[in-house]
Amino acid sequence: MNPHKLAFTRVLPASELPPNAKKPLSIEGKAILLCNVNGQLHAISNVCSHNDKPLERGRLGNGWIACPTHGARFDLATGNALCLPATKPIATYEVRVVEDWIEVLV
Ligand code: FES
Repeated sequence: MNPHKLAFTRVLPASELPPNAKKPLSIEGKAILLCNVNGQLHAISNVCSHNDKPLERGRLGNGWIACPTHGARFDLATGNALCLPATKPIATYEVRVVEDWIEVLV
């Protein structure tokens, strides 16, 4: 078993991701987007499942993000595609705050 699979990675001071902010990061070679929606943190893939475009400039709503390229929406908690043109989900990752640092399990 790979022990790194069970390790959270400390990525960002929590103060640098205020409510309704987004932050693109590369963690272990994966393009991740951190989102803070009204204090609720989410870590999702920064790559749209429709045409592989980045999601980081997308609009955040109550529990979803809209791809800025063609408008597909994704559930931030599950990664499920909520409308066309995307039909496949995006990856989501566990995220937590420890000692005022945001940590992601990738
Ligand atoms: S690339 Fe995201 S909806 Fe098309």
